[in-house]
Amino acid sequence: MKFVIETEVTKKSLARAEAILVPIWLKGEKLDYWGEVYELFDKDDQEAIRSYVESKKFKDGETKWLYIKGVPTFVLIAAATRFDRKRIVLLSRQLVRMAKSEGIKSVGIYLDDFERDNLAAETVTGLAAENALLAHYDFGEKFKSQPVGGWKRVERFVFLTEKTSKKIDEGIARAEMIAEAVNECRTIANYPASDMTPEGLAEAAKTALRGLKNASVTVFDEKRLKSEGMNAILAVGKGSAAAPRLVIMEYAGGKKTEKPLVFVGKGVTFDSGGLNIKTTQGMMDMYMDMSGGAGVIYGVAAIARLGLPVNVIGIVPAVENMISGLSYRQGDVIKTYGGKTIEIGNTDAEGRVILADAIEYAKTKNPALILTLATLTGAAMVALGERASALFVKNNKPLQDEIEKIGRDSGDFVWPLPLWDEFDKELEGAFADVSNAHKKHPIGGAIVGAAFLNYFAKPLPFVHIDMAPRMMTLPEEEFLAKGSAGFGVRLLSEIANQYLQIVKLVK
Ligand code: BES
Ligand code: ZN
Ligand code: ZN
Repeated sequence: MKFVIETEVTKKSLARAEAILVPIWLKGEKLDYWGEVYELFDKDDQEAIRSYVESKKFKDGETKWLYIKGVPTFVLIAAATRFDRKRIVLLSRQLVRMAKSEGIKSVGIYLDDFERDNLAAETVTGLAAENALLAHYDFGEKFKSQPVGGWKRVERFVFLTEKTSKKIDEGIARAEMIAEAVNECRTIANYPASDMTPEGLAEAAKTALRGLKNASVTVFDEKRLKSEGMNAILAVGKGSAAAPRLVIMEYAGGKKTEKPLVFVGKGVTFDSGGLNIKTTQGMMDMYMDMSGGAGVIYGVAAIARLGLPVNVIGIVPAVENMISGLSYRQGDVIKTYGGKTIEIGNTDAEGRVILADAIEYAKTKNPALILTLATLTGAAMVALGERASALFVKNNKPLQDEIEKIGRDSGDFVWPLPLWDEFDKELEGAFADVSNAHKKHPIGGAIVGAAFLNYFAKPLPFVHIDMAPRMMTLPEEEFLAKGSAGFGVRLLSEIANQYLQIVKLVK
């Protein structure tokens, strides 16, 4: 999709888009103010729009499509008492998805209208450009047969504004970069497990970083995992014909003396549950159980592509949790990379087991902060639903608040759950240092998972994000294609962008 900026806003520039957004402001239930874009239509069209709007009752947040005779032909009428970031995000996606399904090739938005609600033109452009690209993406086009005439595409997004600024251009360039990384992340998460094995995930990491300055990828194969003593990764991977890997991505954009942020992502390419097998329903989307790994891979890639002046390391343990005569079992005791031992209470709590080795390895990198990103528990979804990932920050309220805010601004929403020291009690096993399953399962599942990971990360500053709630989009409500939400890319790159602030808070 091409982004075009029209700075001379006249009737003529309006005609560059086949579909355009017309915002109307409400005061309570009453129509209060028409966006200035309305003034640009021909008198006949204005009349058509006005009589349509007056014949309907618009509620706050409501939108309706209107077909008119003039140009543009399609109008997306959006009513609100206030147009905030969330509204702009949804409206730009809605414009693109509707246009795409109708075969409309160009859409437009008049930026200056939103100054009324204190959104600067460059803010609206950045949000609209990013979300237009996210809404245009559809993994369904990968495997389905093409319809006659090919897939419908939106080719142009026109921004109308009377202001020019370098900030608008830069905002678009940045939005394109980020959206591309999010969409690539969605693609590797959406691939079925047969096409995305642990080795495939390692290859994807190499591809994501190829040709970038100061960036490198190292992959530990099975032999190396053995010689390093990464027995937890090996144990979970044993039941699969596809051998496990550990993927290490290093980006050195900062000073040599600066400690890296280390992001660790769960890369379970398929989670059958192992011998504690899942149900048919429970196994349905488990080819996406590497979504945390995908988020880390493309989070690091985005940071490297933006050339941020920070040091970042991404670590992704990649395994397939399968059933065979070689599978790990309940009762098995595993010695991890760092020497701590785990007893297996449930082979379906495999994510935390592989992350134990990866976290211990992360500790050898002298990190400023260890952050894990994982589709760790169904319990996180029970607690939070599907709109925010669970955020756990060990004993650091200011850092928790900062990450919550970064989540809100980036669009990767996170919401806190507690990670107090008391929860360590829940980890006790009979014979090993810790058990991977809580005796009182299923209570507090997401927290117990986080406490387990913290046991390996301590005493270093630790953040865990259980992204099971945001593994997939809500297609109808979010105006995004079905499948992976690409969660984590925007959150991690923004955390890296705010490195100085983050480091201040962990000290
Ligand atoms: N990958 C699953 C968690 C999951 C479920 C992610 C649904 C996304 C959507 C994880 O490995 C798992 O099975 N967790 C168990 C843990 C339990 C056995 C302690 C769970 O949530 O039931
Ligand atoms: Zn599992
Ligand atoms: Zn899993």
